[in-house]
Amino acid sequence: MSTTIDSIKNITVIGAGAMGRQIAMTAALAGYQTTVQDISQDMLDAASAEMSGWVESRVAKGKLEQSTADAALANLAWETDLERAAANADFVIEAATERLDIKRGIFESLGSLAPSHAILATNSSTLGSSKVAEDSARAEQVCNMHFFNPALVMKCVEVVRHESTSDNTVDVTMELARRMGKEPVVINREIPGFIANRVMGAINKESLFLYENGYASKEDIDAAIRNGLGHPMGPLSSWTWWAWTSSTSSLRPPTRKPEPRRTSPTSPSPSSWPRASSAASPVQVSTSTRSRSSAP
Ligand SMILES: NC(=O)c1ccc[n+]([C@@H]2O[C@H](COP(=O)([O-])OP(=O)(O)OC[C@H]3O[C@@H](n4cnc5c(N)ncnc54)[C@H](O)[C@@H]3O)[C@@H](O)[C@H]2O)c1
Repeated sequence: MSTTIDSIKNITVIGAGAMGRQIAMTAALAGYQTTVQDISQDMLDAASAEMSGWVESRVAKGKLEQSTADAALANLAWETDLERAAANADFVIEAATERLDIKRGIFESLGSLAPSHAILATNSSTLGSSKVAEDSARAEQVCNMHFFNPALVMKCVEVVRHESTSDNTVDVTMELARRMGKEPVVINREIPGFIANRVMGAINKESLFLYENGYASKEDIDAAIRNGLGHPMGPLSSWTWWAWTSSTSSLRPPTRKPEPRRTSPTSPSPSSWPRASSAASPVQVSTSTRSRSSAP
Protein backbone atom coordinates (compact mmCIF):
# COMPACT_ATOMS: atom_id res chain seq x y z
CA MET A 1 0.00 0.00 0.00
CA SER A 2 1.39 3.40 -0.88
CA THR A 3 0.83 6.62 1.00
CA THR A 4 1.59 10.26 0.35
CA ILE A 5 3.47 12.74 2.47
CA ASP A 6 0.52 15.13 2.52
CA SER A 7 -1.77 12.46 3.96
CA ILE A 8 0.41 12.21 7.05
CA LYS A 9 -1.21 14.12 9.91
CA ASN A 10 -0.80 11.86 12.93
CA ILE A 11 2.54 10.52 14.12
CA THR A 12 2.93 7.99 16.90
CA VAL A 13 6.27 7.72 18.68
CA ILE A 14 6.81 4.58 20.72
CA GLY A 15 9.12 5.04 23.70
CA ALA A 16 9.39 8.24 25.73
CA GLY A 17 13.06 7.89 26.58
CA ALA A 18 16.00 10.04 25.60
CA MET A 19 15.23 9.73 21.89
CA GLY A 20 11.48 9.26 21.72
CA ARG A 21 10.60 12.43 23.63
CA GLN A 22 12.80 14.62 21.43
CA ILE A 23 11.66 12.99 18.21
CA ALA A 24 8.07 13.59 19.34
CA MET A 25 8.79 17.22 20.16
CA THR A 26 10.44 17.66 16.77
CA ALA A 27 7.36 16.24 15.06
CA ALA A 28 5.01 18.40 17.17
CA LEU A 29 7.02 21.52 16.31
CA ALA A 30 6.63 20.60 12.64
CA GLY A 31 2.86 20.67 13.10
CA TYR A 32 2.08 16.97 13.42
CA GLN A 33 -0.43 15.61 15.91
CA THR A 34 1.96 13.44 17.86
CA THR A 35 1.13 10.71 20.33
CA VAL A 36 3.91 9.36 22.50
CA GLN A 37 3.36 5.86 23.84
CA ASP A 38 5.38 4.21 26.59
CA ILE A 39 4.68 1.32 28.93
CA SER A 40 5.91 3.48 31.80
CA GLN A 41 3.70 6.32 33.02
CA ASP A 42 6.71 7.67 34.92
CA MET A 43 8.68 7.97 31.68
CA LEU A 44 5.77 9.73 29.99
CA ASP A 45 5.48 12.18 32.89
CA ALA A 46 9.22 12.83 32.87
CA ALA A 47 9.23 13.28 29.10
CA SER A 48 6.28 15.66 29.16
CA ALA A 49 7.86 17.75 31.92
CA GLU A 50 11.22 17.86 30.17
CA MET A 51 9.75 18.87 26.83
CA SER A 52 7.59 21.58 28.44
CA GLY A 53 10.69 22.88 30.18
CA TRP A 54 12.62 22.81 26.94
CA VAL A 55 10.11 24.92 25.01
CA GLU A 56 9.81 27.33 27.94
CA SER A 57 13.55 27.88 27.96
CA ARG A 58 13.58 28.39 24.18
CA VAL A 59 10.86 30.99 24.50
CA ALA A 60 12.70 32.67 27.38
CA LYS A 61 15.85 32.87 25.24
CA GLY A 62 13.90 34.36 22.36
CA LYS A 63 14.56 31.37 20.13
CA LEU A 64 10.94 30.25 19.85
CA GLU A 65 7.70 32.20 19.58
CA GLN A 66 5.28 31.62 22.45
CA SER A 67 2.53 30.80 19.96
CA THR A 68 4.72 28.17 18.27
CA ALA A 69 5.58 26.65 21.62
CA ASP A 70 1.93 26.55 22.66
CA ALA A 71 0.90 24.98 19.36
CA ALA A 72 3.63 22.33 19.61
CA LEU A 73 2.70 21.39 23.17
CA ALA A 74 -0.95 21.19 22.14
CA ASN A 75 0.06 18.78 19.37
CA LEU A 76 1.44 16.30 21.90
CA ALA A 77 -0.51 13.50 23.60
CA TRP A 78 0.89 10.98 26.06
CA GLU A 79 -0.40 7.43 26.22
CA THR A 80 0.41 4.10 27.85
CA ASP A 81 -2.00 2.08 25.74
CA LEU A 82 -0.55 1.01 22.40
CA GLU A 83 -3.94 0.27 20.86
CA ARG A 84 -5.16 3.82 21.50
CA ALA A 85 -1.82 5.32 20.48
CA ALA A 86 -1.68 3.48 17.17
CA ALA A 87 -5.33 3.70 16.17
CA ASN A 88 -5.02 6.88 14.07
CA ALA A 89 -1.34 6.75 13.19
CA ASP A 90 -0.27 7.61 9.67
CA PHE A 91 3.38 7.16 10.57
CA VAL A 92 4.95 5.35 13.53
CA ILE A 93 8.47 5.94 14.82
CA GLU A 94 9.49 3.24 17.26
CA ALA A 95 12.12 4.41 19.77
CA ALA A 96 11.70 1.84 22.52
CA THR A 97 14.44 0.09 24.46
CA GLU A 98 17.12 -1.38 22.23
CA ARG A 99 16.14 -5.03 22.57
CA LEU A 100 15.10 -7.16 19.64
CA ASP A 101 12.42 -9.04 21.57
CA ILE A 102 10.79 -5.78 22.63
CA LYS A 103 10.89 -4.33 19.15
CA ARG A 104 9.57 -7.52 17.55
CA GLY A 105 6.62 -7.48 19.94
CA ILE A 106 5.90 -3.85 19.15
CA PHE A 107 6.03 -4.37 15.38
CA GLU A 108 3.83 -7.44 15.62
CA SER A 109 1.24 -5.44 17.58
CA LEU A 110 1.49 -2.51 15.19
CA GLY A 111 0.78 -4.85 12.30
CA SER A 112 -2.77 -5.24 13.56
CA LEU A 113 -3.25 -2.00 15.53
CA ALA A 114 -1.99 0.67 13.13
CA PRO A 115 -4.04 1.62 10.05
CA SER A 116 -2.99 -0.40 7.02
CA HIS A 117 -1.55 2.64 5.22
CA ALA A 118 0.76 3.56 8.12
CA ILE A 119 4.51 3.43 7.63
CA LEU A 120 6.34 1.82 10.54
CA ALA A 121 9.89 3.06 11.17
CA THR A 122 12.37 2.10 13.83
CA ASN A 123 14.87 4.53 15.29
CA SER A 124 17.17 1.68 16.28
CA SER A 125 20.88 2.43 16.00
CA THR A 126 21.90 -1.19 15.72
CA LEU A 127 18.96 -3.28 14.57
CA GLY A 128 18.15 -3.20 10.89
CA SER A 129 14.43 -3.01 10.23
CA SER A 130 14.60 -6.37 8.43
CA LYS A 131 14.69 -7.88 11.93
CA VAL A 132 11.16 -6.64 12.66
CA ALA A 133 9.65 -6.17 9.20
CA GLU A 134 8.09 -9.61 8.90
CA ASP A 135 6.54 -9.32 12.37
CA SER A 136 4.58 -6.31 11.17
CA ALA A 137 3.05 -8.21 8.25
CA ARG A 138 3.67 -5.13 6.06
CA ALA A 139 7.39 -5.45 5.40
CA GLU A 140 7.39 -3.05 2.46
CA GLN A 141 6.19 -0.25 4.75
CA VAL A 142 9.02 -0.73 7.26
CA CYS A 143 12.41 0.97 7.42
CA ASN A 144 14.89 2.50 9.84
CA MET A 145 14.49 6.21 10.51
CA HIS A 146 17.58 6.84 12.60
CA PHE A 147 17.73 10.16 14.42
CA PHE A 148 20.80 11.35 16.27
CA ASN A 149 21.05 12.44 19.86
CA PRO A 150 19.91 15.06 20.76
CA ALA A 151 17.18 14.65 18.18
CA LEU A 152 15.91 18.21 18.62
CA VAL A 153 19.29 19.52 17.52
CA MET A 154 21.03 17.07 15.24
CA LYS A 155 20.15 17.47 11.57
CA CYS A 156 21.01 14.04 10.26
CA VAL A 157 18.46 11.28 9.87
CA GLU A 158 19.57 8.00 8.30
CA VAL A 159 16.77 6.29 6.38
CA VAL A 160 17.78 2.68 5.90
CA ARG A 161 15.93 0.36 3.61
CA HIS A 162 15.83 -3.41 3.95
CA GLU A 163 15.35 -5.75 1.02
CA SER A 164 11.58 -5.34 0.84
CA THR A 165 11.22 -1.67 1.75
CA SER A 166 9.24 0.03 -1.01
CA ASP A 167 10.40 3.16 -2.82
CA ASN A 168 7.25 4.87 -1.57
CA THR A 169 8.19 4.14 2.05
CA VAL A 170 11.67 5.60 1.52
CA ASP A 171 10.38 8.66 -0.33
CA VAL A 172 7.74 9.47 2.29
CA THR A 173 10.14 8.90 5.19
CA MET A 174 12.77 11.14 3.60
CA GLU A 175 10.24 13.90 2.99
CA LEU A 176 8.82 13.58 6.49
CA ALA A 177 12.32 13.99 7.90
CA ARG A 178 12.77 17.13 5.79
CA ARG A 179 9.46 18.53 7.02
CA MET A 180 10.73 17.89 10.54
CA GLY A 181 13.66 20.16 9.72
CA LYS A 182 16.21 17.40 9.15
CA GLU A 183 18.67 16.60 6.39
CA PRO A 184 18.06 12.91 5.75
CA VAL A 185 20.27 10.47 3.87
CA VAL A 186 19.35 7.10 2.37
CA ILE A 187 21.22 3.88 3.01
CA ASN A 188 20.34 1.47 0.25
CA ARG A 189 21.31 -1.75 2.01
CA GLU A 190 21.44 -2.58 5.69
CA ILE A 191 24.87 -2.45 7.25
CA PRO A 192 25.60 -2.35 11.00
CA GLY A 193 26.39 1.14 12.22
CA PHE A 194 24.79 2.68 9.13
CA ILE A 195 26.95 5.63 7.97
CA ALA A 196 27.80 8.06 10.74
CA ASN A 197 28.35 5.63 13.62
CA ARG A 198 30.31 3.35 11.34
CA VAL A 199 32.66 6.10 10.20
CA MET A 200 32.89 7.33 13.79
CA GLY A 201 33.86 3.80 14.81
CA ALA A 202 36.65 3.73 12.22
CA ILE A 203 38.00 7.05 13.46
CA ASN A 204 37.80 5.86 17.07
CA LYS A 205 39.56 2.65 16.16
CA GLU A 206 42.44 4.37 14.44
CA SER A 207 42.74 6.93 17.22
CA LEU A 208 42.98 4.15 19.79
CA PHE A 209 45.56 2.33 17.69
CA LEU A 210 47.74 5.43 17.44
CA TYR A 211 47.41 6.14 21.15
CA GLU A 212 47.87 2.60 22.40
CA ASN A 213 50.98 2.12 20.32
CA GLY A 214 52.55 5.34 21.49
CA TYR A 215 52.44 7.25 18.22
CA ALA A 216 50.90 10.31 19.88
CA SER A 217 49.27 11.48 23.06
CA LYS A 218 45.48 11.51 23.45
CA GLU A 219 45.56 15.29 23.48
CA ASP A 220 47.54 15.49 20.24
CA ILE A 221 45.34 12.95 18.46
CA ASP A 222 42.26 14.91 19.48
CA ALA A 223 43.93 18.17 18.45
CA ALA A 224 44.84 16.76 15.03
CA ILE A 225 41.28 15.66 14.41
CA ARG A 226 39.81 18.92 15.66
CA ASN A 227 42.19 21.22 13.87
CA GLY A 228 43.07 19.04 10.88
CA LEU A 229 39.69 17.56 10.02
CA GLY A 230 37.44 20.25 11.43
CA HIS A 231 35.63 17.99 13.90
CA PRO A 232 34.32 19.90 16.91
CA MET A 233 35.81 17.35 19.31
CA GLY A 234 38.53 14.76 19.20
CA PRO A 235 37.52 11.08 19.37
CA LEU A 236 39.37 10.40 22.59
CA SER A 237 37.58 13.11 24.52
CA SER A 238 35.29 11.52 27.04
CA TRP A 239 32.16 13.18 25.67
CA THR A 240 32.59 11.89 22.15
CA TRP A 241 33.49 8.42 23.38
CA TRP A 242 30.50 8.30 25.69
CA ALA A 243 28.13 9.53 22.99
CA TRP A 244 29.30 6.96 20.50
CA THR A 245 29.23 4.03 22.86
CA SER A 246 25.94 4.94 24.53
CA SER A 247 24.07 5.02 21.25
CA THR A 248 25.45 1.81 19.91
CA SER A 249 25.12 -0.54 22.85
CA SER A 250 25.41 -3.74 20.91
CA LEU A 251 28.27 -2.33 18.87
CA ARG A 252 30.04 -1.17 22.00
CA PRO A 253 33.80 -1.45 22.05
CA PRO A 254 35.67 -2.59 25.15
CA THR A 255 34.67 -0.28 27.97
CA ARG A 256 38.11 -0.07 29.50
CA LYS A 257 40.10 3.05 28.90
CA PRO A 258 42.87 2.63 26.34
CA GLU A 259 46.22 1.79 27.86
CA PRO A 260 49.45 3.03 26.37
CA ARG A 261 51.94 1.01 24.39
CA ARG A 262 50.08 -2.16 23.63
CA THR A 263 51.61 -4.13 20.82
CA SER A 264 48.46 -5.04 18.90
CA PRO A 265 45.60 -2.77 18.06
CA THR A 266 42.28 -3.46 19.69
CA SER A 267 39.21 -2.99 17.61
CA PRO A 268 36.34 -0.99 19.01
CA SER A 269 34.27 -2.12 16.05
CA PRO A 270 32.55 -5.43 16.73
CA SER A 271 33.89 -8.38 14.80
CA SER A 272 30.48 -8.81 13.19
CA TRP A 273 30.83 -5.56 11.26
CA PRO A 274 31.50 -6.14 7.60
CA ARG A 275 34.93 -4.68 7.00
CA ALA A 276 36.06 -2.32 4.35
CA SER A 277 38.70 -3.87 2.15
CA SER A 278 41.40 -1.68 3.68
CA ALA A 279 40.15 -2.13 7.23
CA ALA A 280 43.20 -4.13 8.30
CA SER A 281 45.45 -1.18 7.70
CA PRO A 282 45.13 2.25 9.20
CA VAL A 283 42.26 4.20 7.70
CA GLN A 284 43.40 6.78 5.19
CA VAL A 285 41.48 9.99 5.73
CA SER A 286 41.94 12.75 3.24
CA THR A 287 43.15 15.97 4.80
CA SER A 288 40.50 17.74 2.78
CA THR A 289 37.78 15.95 4.70
CA ARG A 290 35.63 18.50 6.45
CA SER A 291 33.07 16.24 8.04
CA ARG A 292 31.92 17.35 11.43
CA SER A 293 31.72 14.88 14.23
CA SER A 294 28.03 14.14 14.54
CA ALA A 295 28.06 12.08 17.64
CA PRO A 296 24.73 10.32 17.94
N1 LIG B 1 20.40 7.20 23.01
C1 LIG B 1 20.95 7.49 21.83
O1 LIG B 1 21.97 8.20 21.75
C2 LIG B 1 20.31 6.96 20.57
C3 LIG B 1 20.63 7.56 19.34
C4 LIG B 1 20.00 7.13 18.18
C5 LIG B 1 19.10 6.07 18.24
N2 LIG B 1 18.84 5.48 19.45
C6 LIG B 1 17.85 4.39 19.46
O2 LIG B 1 16.64 4.89 20.01
C7 LIG B 1 15.96 3.83 20.70
C8 LIG B 1 15.64 4.31 22.10
O3 LIG B 1 16.83 4.67 22.73
P1 LIG B 1 16.79 5.63 24.02
O4 LIG B 1 18.20 6.01 24.28
O5 LIG B 1 15.76 6.65 23.84
O6 LIG B 1 16.31 4.58 25.13
P2 LIG B 1 15.73 4.89 26.59
O7 LIG B 1 16.15 3.74 27.44
O8 LIG B 1 16.06 6.26 27.02
O9 LIG B 1 14.14 4.83 26.37
C9 LIG B 1 13.49 3.66 25.97
C10 LIG B 1 12.03 3.79 26.37
O10 LIG B 1 11.33 2.68 25.80
C11 LIG B 1 10.32 2.33 26.73
N3 LIG B 1 9.83 0.99 26.42
C12 LIG B 1 10.39 -0.19 26.71
N4 LIG B 1 9.62 -1.19 26.26
C13 LIG B 1 8.55 -0.61 25.65
C14 LIG B 1 7.41 -1.12 24.98
N5 LIG B 1 7.21 -2.43 24.82
N6 LIG B 1 6.53 -0.24 24.49
C15 LIG B 1 6.71 1.10 24.64
N7 LIG B 1 7.77 1.63 25.27
C16 LIG B 1 8.68 0.78 25.76
C17 LIG B 1 10.98 2.47 28.09
O11 LIG B 1 10.02 2.57 29.13
C18 LIG B 1 11.79 3.74 27.88
O12 LIG B 1 11.06 4.89 28.27
C19 LIG B 1 16.86 2.61 20.64
O13 LIG B 1 16.41 1.79 19.59
C20 LIG B 1 18.23 3.19 20.29
O14 LIG B 1 19.04 2.33 19.54
C21 LIG B 1 19.40 5.90 20.61
